[in-house]
Order: sequence, then C-alpha cells, then structure tokens
Amino acid sequence: MSTSPTLAAPTTLRHARILGLGGYRPERVVTNEEICRYIDSSDEWIQQRSGIVTRRFAREDESVIDMAEAASRQALDRAGLEAGQIDAILVATVSHPYQTPAAAPSLAVRLGITDPAAIDISAACAGYCYAISLANDMVRAGTADHVLVVGVEKLSDFTDKHDRGSAFIFGDGAGAAVVGVSDTPGIGPTVWGSLGDKYDAITQREAWTDLRPAMEEPGRTEAISWPSFVMQGQTVFRWAVFSMAPVAKRAMEAAGITSADLGAFVPHQANMRITDAMVKALDLPEHVPVARDIAETGNTSAASVPLAMSRMLDEGEAPHGGLALQIGFGAGLVYAAQVVVMP
Ligand code: UT7
Repeated sequence: MSTSPTLAAPTTLRHARILGLGGYRPERVVTNEEICRYIDSSDEWIQQRSGIVTRRFAREDESVIDMAEAASRQALDRAGLEAGQIDAILVATVSHPYQTPAAAPSLAVRLGITDPAAIDISAACAGYCYAISLANDMVRAGTADHVLVVGVEKLSDFTDKHDRGSAFIFGDGAGAAVVGVSDTPGIGPTVWGSLGDKYDAITQREAWTDLRPAMEEPGRTEAISWPSFVMQGQTVFRWAVFSMAPVAKRAMEAAGITSADLGAFVPHQANMRITDAMVKALDLPEHVPVARDIAETGNTSAASVPLAMSRMLDEGEAPHGGLALQIGFGAGLVYAAQVVVMP
C-alpha cells in the first residue's frame, strides 16, 4: 500500500489588521415624520425608545452592490491598495435581493478585481464581525494576503412600512474594511455564537417558497404579500441588554486588555437604549468614546459597525491606531465580538 504524500501547507501563522475602512451613506435622509405617515407613532416616541432621529434610504435604483462599491473604493483608497491586490471578498448582507448568485462576485467585477475568492455571509447584524474574524483567520493562515470585508444593507427593500414594530428602526448603507498582513496583532480573538432556537425573534415573515402556492393560484388577481423582516422587539431587546455585555467582556479578556485600554466602543447600532445599557454593564471609563451613529443612520444591520467606526475616525472622535471593542448581534440569533486596532 502506497503512503500519501504530505500536503504543502504554510508553517507559520501571520498577524493581521484592518488596513483601511470606508463607508457609504445614501443621500436621502428620512425623518421620523415621514415614517409616521404609515404607522401610528410619533417623532417623540421613536426618539425616546430607539434614539433614532433620521435614517438614510437608498434610491430605488441604487443596489446593495452600488453601495458596497462606494464603501469598498474608500476603504481601498485609505488602505493605499489597488483593487487588484485583493484576493478574497466577504460580503455580509441579508438584503441582497438574489438568493443566488451572491453579491460578492458582482462586486469584484465592479471593482475590477479579477478572479478573487468571493462569497456572501448571512449573519444579519453580526455579519461584519463574523467576516472580520474569518478574514483575520484567512490572512493569518496564509489563505489570502488581502481580504475585502463589506457589511451592506438595503433594508428599506425588506421593511414593511406599515409595521409599527420595525418600520422606524431600519436604514440603508455600506461599510467596508481591507484586512491584510501586519507585523503585530491587529484583530483580537473573536467571541461568537448562535441561539438557533430563537430563530423567530427576527425573521423574514414568509419563506420565499411560501409565495409559490399563491403565485400558482389560477385566476389570482390580488398582490402577493411581501416577505418583509419582522421582529419581536422586546425579546431581542432583553437578550441584547442582558447577554451582550458579558460577550463584550469576554472579547476584551481574550484580547488581554481592559476597558481602560479602549480608544472606542463600537456596538451594533440596534437601539440607543441597548448601547446605554451595555456601556453601564461594562462600566466603561468616561474617556472611552461610544458609537452613537444610530441617531442619524438608524439600524443598518451588517453595515452598522463599520459605518459607525468610520464616522468616529473621520470626525476625530476615535484615535487612528487605537483599540476598539466591536460587537454585532441580531437575527439567528447570532453574535460576534472582538477587539481590533483601528486603521
Ligand atoms: O438589529 C437587530 C437587533 N435588533 C434590535 O436589537 C432591536 C431590539 N428592540 C428594540 O430596539 C425595541 O424593542 C423597539 C425599539 C423595537 C421597541 O421598543 P420597546 O421599548 O421594546 O417597545 P415595546 O414593544 O415594549 O412597546 C411599548 C409600548 C407599547 O404600548 P403599551 O402596551 O405600553 O401601551 C406598544 O404598543 O409602545 C407601543 N409601541 C409604539 N408606540 C408608538 C410599539 N411600537 C410603537 C411605535 N410607536 N412604533
């Protein structure tokens, strides 16, 4: 019996970091007044319960890929890299309107990247932090030298504007990061997980396949209901408030740092009250700036962490090269947290 040859494999792990970060916010600002034309609510209630003052909605003809392209170009520019240097693309999204093919290969074509590994990741509001963890592992293991990570959503396409429980929460946008080789560790260990038994806490209302019988009804004339995203707000709120601060703490412990070392805290922009509760539970020192991008951007799911971090860097609120604790959590239910060195 012949013995198999030993496979070639990289022998040493490398370090990885975020080399550049970019963001894209659609032009159209949507006020709470506009949202309240379709639901029985008020600007005051929305601001008090969620912290949202305005959000952005993409144009009808503006796609997830358009927004991802704009954020990616900025991230590449800031990383000082040509698109051709990217060898893998991970797009975190739950609102690319095609089940298949994924958004990532089309994004590659837009950016002029020839033949990269390119996939989408479905991890809702934790998608970007999941993708950063995977990109870190890919660079560290030598699978790729430069990974483009994008969090992008056009949630306005999947929001039922008549649903009081969710119509005011969601917004559109894109954030992108280029992850590459580093001399020192730039992405700490990820603490992540999932609670699949809570799958119905935030979900598309019907499966695509549930529309089939209606489509096939002979002589049907009424419109088919659209499978929007719906949410058991309180269930998600309680889970986030009680369970996510311990996850964030574990991410800091895993990275070997304390909250006093942080240059920024960037939680998923789900609700300003969730952010406030986490800040309290983590007992964050006063000097640590906290992302509060939700006020003007709403909840952009996978895009929220990179959009919030790029705003903090752009406005000089967070220091380039400082440490940020980032955490994403959402439909699944899934979550992921890690400490990163900001570019
Ligand atoms: O990104 C993925 C993760 N998502 C999240 O983390 C979202 C988590 N959940 C939330 O952010 C909050 O649950 C919401 C902002 C969605 C809702 O806030 P809440 O404080 O949990 O409100 P509630 O559902 O407990 O409702 C409180 C009251 C109720 O009235 P009563 O029963 O106290 O008289 C609701 O009927 O507010 C009423 N209500 C509203 N009033 C005006 C519910 N929705 C509305 C509304 N406008 N849109």
